[in-house]
Amino acid sequence: MPVDALMSTDYELRELALNNLYEKAKAAQWDVAKDIDWSTELDADNPLGMPDPTLLIYGTQLWDKLDAAGRREVRHHAQAWLLSQILHGEQAALICAAKLASAEEGLSARLCAATQMMDEARHVEAYAKLVNEKFSTSYPMSKSLKGLLEDTITSTHLDMTNLGMQVLVEGIALSIFQSVVAYSTDPFIKDLFSRIQRDESRHFAVGRITLCRVYSEMSSTELKEREEFVSEGASVLYEHLCADDIWEPMGFSKEACAQMVRDSEVSSTIRRSIFRRLVPTIREMGLLTPRVRRTFEQLDVIDYEVMPLSLNA
Ligand SMILES: [Fe+2]
Ligand SMILES: [Fe+2]
Repeated sequence: MPVDALMSTDYELRELALNNLYEKAKAAQWDVAKDIDWSTELDADNPLGMPDPTLLIYGTQLWDKLDAAGRREVRHHAQAWLLSQILHGEQAALICAAKLASAEEGLSARLCAATQMMDEARHVEAYAKLVNEKFSTSYPMSKSLKGLLEDTITSTHLDMTNLGMQVLVEGIALSIFQSVVAYSTDPFIKDLFSRIQRDESRHFAVGRITLCRVYSEMSSTELKEREEFVSEGASVLYEHLCADDIWEPMGFSKEACAQMVRDSEVSSTIRRSIFRRLVPTIREMGLLTPRVRRTFEQLDVIDYEVMPLSLNA
């Protein structure tokens, strides 16, 4: 590709909201190796320090039958799975940020993406260290997450890379991080997740700001493809959150447990709550069309459409 097509000659930072996020990002850099005390011991029974009602099988017959050792094993696998998926997602975010840094048109958006690359590198470092040093188990990417990340990374439309990563995946990840910050009783985990959550809030805001502009100018034919992408992505993430891969390594039937999780009211409440940031953001971007609305109704998350946007970044 010719240099003229890759590079802009316009060096004005034209977008005030993005410039503010760029300034915040520069001021908020932190160091995984120096700012976090990795010698901290975590509770072997519950490394993330999360209360049991945040587990997908809490309150099911299986959970009620488990003894203390069995419950400890479930916590360990559920947390190792979640952190492994987050780690894979962080690496994908790093790749997407690099793509945005090299292809965004405006310099303000490009500089935001450049700081995001460093943020995502830091997150990969932090979660890799957490999984490798504090857990004895790790998991490959779930099949559903892999499909969504593949579509997001390889899309030839830059806005769809942005939409898949900054809005869908980051929106879901941000809600998970907020839950950990809110419920974890472990100060080390709370601190680590709060730091990462602050970085992610900026990425989510950058995605929302750039995409609101792009979609307000897009034709209805082009928007149809984005509606489809959001609908499929949301359904995939809702399924992904069932964590079906953790049961076989513990000696349980994958099918029976997968069904138990899907039948559980606790599990539905947890999974639904993870969509609380995503739904109002999709509304704000003008993508809550009848097609997307149907999907959100099927997932039972449409109630979040009335929620205000969380603008803290
Ligand atoms: Fe990240
Ligand atoms: Fe991010």
